[in-house]
Amino acid sequence: MKDRLEELRTEGLQALEAASSLSSLKASEIQLLGKKGALTTLLKGVGALPPEERPLIGQLANQVKKEFAEKIASVSAALKEAQIAAELDSAGFDSTLPSAPLTLGGAHPVQVITRELEDLFLSMGFRVADGPEVELEANNFDALNIPADHPARESHDTIWVQEASGETPGLCMRTHTSPVQIRTLREAGAPLRVIAPGRVFRQETQDATHDHTFHQMEGLVVDRGVGVPQMLHAMNAMIEGVFGKHLKTRIRPGYFPFVEPGFELDAQCPFCDEGCSVCKGSRWIELIGCGLVHPKVLQESGVDSDIYSGFAFGVGLSRLAMLRYGIRDVRWMLGGSISFLSQFSE
Ligand code: FA5
Repeated sequence: MKDRLEELRTEGLQALEAASSLSSLKASEIQLLGKKGALTTLLKGVGALPPEERPLIGQLANQVKKEFAEKIASVSAALKEAQIAAELDSAGFDSTLPSAPLTLGGAHPVQVITRELEDLFLSMGFRVADGPEVELEANNFDALNIPADHPARESHDTIWVQEASGETPGLCMRTHTSPVQIRTLREAGAPLRVIAPGRVFRQETQDATHDHTFHQMEGLVVDRGVGVPQMLHAMNAMIEGVFGKHLKTRIRPGYFPFVEPGFELDAQCPFCDEGCSVCKGSRWIELIGCGLVHPKVLQESGVDSDIYSGFAFGVGLSRLAMLRYGIRDVRWMLGGSISFLSQFSE
């Protein structure tokens, strides 16, 4: 029995190896291992053997079975590969030709600046917060001292969420990152140092500096004794962090209902000397809205405005990217053009 098993092993492995197609491999497999196959038939004689020989034969039979199974797997893989190669060959595919060069993606210009500013503000003790893009009307407006009848709402052409029934459930696409002020103040209270970069949405007439979807970064510091000098220091650190000392800026009074006093920071237009379509002839491009947090906003969020004061800012990240990289139109940022984006691959 042992000799017959070993003979079968040699013959079987040869037959499997010689299979020239998947169907002939299958046929050899059935001949060897099938219900009426050679190995099965041979093993039916085990019962007639003396009991002391049976374990040895059983062990050998298992070993032979295992070797057959391994051979079937390796021959089958080789035949499948050959079949694919033949099909590709007949279709005129040359697998020896080098592949097209791989192009790696890179960080988006807004992402590069966001990461740099996150590192800068983290080094100044801020943390990074997040808020939803679909925001409660109450957070986007009311808690920021912009009630329903306030004219400032009109400057944010809001995209409202409407249910299929036509009802408006008091939700909008956030028009700025300022609602994150409310969320973080309510959640963590004072003292607080936080930045919140993210996407915002407005039903805006588009031009070189206005898109309907763009990126802002909110900054908020609330502590004892915070005032305009600390705010100016943070603004300068931010501008220098992105542009070095070369960007000329100016700060002027600005109105936002959630700060008092409020300011706007502009940068001198880098695209012209005498006015152009980007700066609309003014020579200045608005970058940041900022100011001291209105006491009503602090109170609204449960912070004692007799003890704490704060500053907040909202910087246009898309505009920072325009100025830093010389991009003359903000609409390139989210336009999805690969040839535009590939210029910024690292
Ligand atoms: C605001 O959105 C205020 N939330 C900013 C703020 C925060 C003020 C905290 C005070 C305290 P404003 O609408 O001006 O303000 O937008 C802020 C910045 O976003 C602008 O200075 C500009 O850089 C950028 N920005 C505004 N509208 C657009 C737009 N349509 N496309 C691209 N960037 C824009």
